[in-house]
Amino acid sequence: MPKKTVGDVDVKGKRVLVRVDFNVPLDKDNAVSDDTRIREALPTIRYLSGQKARVILISHLGRPKGKVDDRYKMDPVALRLQDLLGRPVRKVDDCIGDAVQAAIGEMRDGDVILLENVRFYAEEEKNDEGFARQLAGLADVFVNDAFGAAHRAHASTEGVADFLPAVAGFLMEKELAVLERILAAPERPFVAILGGAKVSDKIGVIANLLDKVDSLIIGGGMANTFLKARGLDVGKSLLEVDKVDQAKGLIADARAREVKIFLPVDVVAALAAAPDAEPKVVPVNQIPPEWMALDIGPASVEFFTGALKGAKTVFWNGPMGVFEMAPFAGGTENVARALAGMEATTVVGGGDSVAAVKKVGVADKITHISTGGGASLEFLEGKKLPGIEVLQEK
Ligand code: 3PG
Repeated sequence: MPKKTVGDVDVKGKRVLVRVDFNVPLDKDNAVSDDTRIREALPTIRYLSGQKARVILISHLGRPKGKVDDRYKMDPVALRLQDLLGRPVRKVDDCIGDAVQAAIGEMRDGDVILLENVRFYAEEEKNDEGFARQLAGLADVFVNDAFGAAHRAHASTEGVADFLPAVAGFLMEKELAVLERILAAPERPFVAILGGAKVSDKIGVIANLLDKVDSLIIGGGMANTFLKARGLDVGKSLLEVDKVDQAKGLIADARAREVKIFLPVDVVAALAAAPDAEPKVVPVNQIPPEWMALDIGPASVEFFTGALKGAKTVFWNGPMGVFEMAPFAGGTENVARALAGMEATTVVGGGDSVAAVKKVGVADKITHISTGGGASLEFLEGKKLPGIEVLQEK
């Protein structure tokens, strides 16, 4: 059942608490280095302001672990938001208490304020009821537009909805529409590309996707565990020995469902995961005992690109190698390019894969770039996300 959105409730003159995910990267000067998440929240903020609501934004930034930490103050975010919105955004230095109540009391219809990092309170991640009540006491309506944090059962994502009418923002609505479609009625062939270091992070999503996809492409560090499951030696490569049997099980399961699994056929290997390491390309059955696989090789890129041919839906999460180091970035970047050239619904989620798409300049050629890495994975795992469950249904 679709969730009610901001468009379904009367917000005129109301105080609306909007949970956004402004957990954005900051550079060494503490300025926002990627404002995608802020831009993606603009439609909801503009709509509410245009409807003469009093817009009270709240977010986390980083993981300050329940203490005030200057590195994670929301001030740089408020500045960028103000620029993008083209109207003043008042930043308040707390997220509950008298100063916040006073600032909200001074708001006029259409005003926008941004509260301080909600994770400066340990009660946030504990989903403390008293804290959630205090947040709820600031507003008349709660809007969750923080898809990226929807897998967290925290006070500002879940608890607060016990005390206020709770609806989705437009970004949340958009993310859910795309991801629900992928799970329920993908245009076929449907191919999922999964990468990243650890297979243990992806077992749930592989298991859930096996009865939905036509093919599964596996790269990155996690591919080593699958290569091992197929009887290959992977030298000193990252390997989750205790997951090899599970990988064997998934391979057998895929075969039974006639889902093709594509694994790397060659890798870029080195003696160490270091930016100045000397890389060499080797077939997967010839990784020297002291070497480690750190990226997929050119033959794998070709193999994977061939597997994508004709696909009508593609979901990609996770890099193909140690993408942050130049010698091992090629595989991930080439997968990004391959996706960009496709006539298909392409959906990318997860920090590194999204970064790769942006780095090679093809973000505008991807159908949907999810603002949630962990959240999109948990969604595709078939899990119920707490921040979504609590929203009212249409
Ligand atoms: C993210 O960046 O994935 C979200 O903002 C959630 O952040 P968290 O993993 O610190 O909860």
